Amino acid sequence: MSTARRMNVNKVTTHVLQAMKERGEKISMLTAYDFSLAKIVDDAGMDIILVGDSASNVMAGYDTTLPITLDQMIYHASSVIRAVKRALVVVDLPFGSYQGNSKEALQSTIRIMKESGAHAVKLEGGEEVKESIIRILSAGVPVMGHLGLTPQSINKFGTYTVRATEEPEAKKLIKDALLLEELGCFAIVLEKIPAALAAEVSKQLKIPVIGIGAGAAVDGQVLVIHDMLGINQGFSPRFLRRYLNLYEEIKAAIGNYVEDVKAENFPNENEQY
Ligand code: KIV
Repeated sequence: MSTARRMNVNKVTTHVLQAMKERGEKISMLTAYDFSLAKIVDDAGMDIILVGDSASNVMAGYDTTLPITLDQMIYHASSVIRAVKRALVVVDLPFGSYQGNSKEALQSTIRIMKESGAHAVKLEGGEEVKESIIRILSAGVPVMGHLGLTPQSINKFGTYTVRATEEPEAKKLIKDALLLEELGCFAIVLEKIPAALAAEVSKQLKIPVIGIGAGAAVDGQVLVIHDMLGINQGFSPRFLRRYLNLYEEIKAAIGNYVEDVKAENFPNENEQY
């Protein structure tokens, strides 16, 4: 039996997440992009389901998160929302839907909220997207920040390596994290940064800090579902723990089906009318 602390809640809200941070209960977060997997993720007791723009990689097969559109994110988000009863559902604002100006950011957010029924949005960046965050929050929509390795900036970074290893970038990250909290974000994600830096940010911030490749001393963890289930084979960063090797399991099952069809073992007498 698990000894982990757990708040017994029927519906996770941003207030519940804040209470979890205050009582030292770790927050679980995982991505989902479709109805069937989102239902399993929710049923397993996940606190936050992220409809990440990583859908661009794992659902659509692009190399980066840049191509996914607002319409496509809304399609994924509404599929997830139809499945979820307990978790807080956060949806990524895709590249190009919020950086231009704060009005555009609000319009994109309103489309996500109205057309999918999501509970909150996430966007990447600090000071650069301040005006967009202020405007979205003023419409009553909870915002999750995202700092460190922000994949929408891959063309600026040039590589998916660990961020903020040098002092100037680390200092800017801490400043941006404090700014996001001051603006009113309900939580932030820190991606692929040194564990000591993430621990420092988590200590300084009152709001929850969720890490991916950011060590253990943060308030929660997030992974991409295709990576942790081993559906996606080509991605093996050090921070990833694979809980299943689903690629091989699914391949074996489908191979068995192919064999059964070829050998006329399927369907049998009980599997027909
Ligand atoms: O899009 C995504 O899946 C994300 C997580 C990696 C945090 O932003």
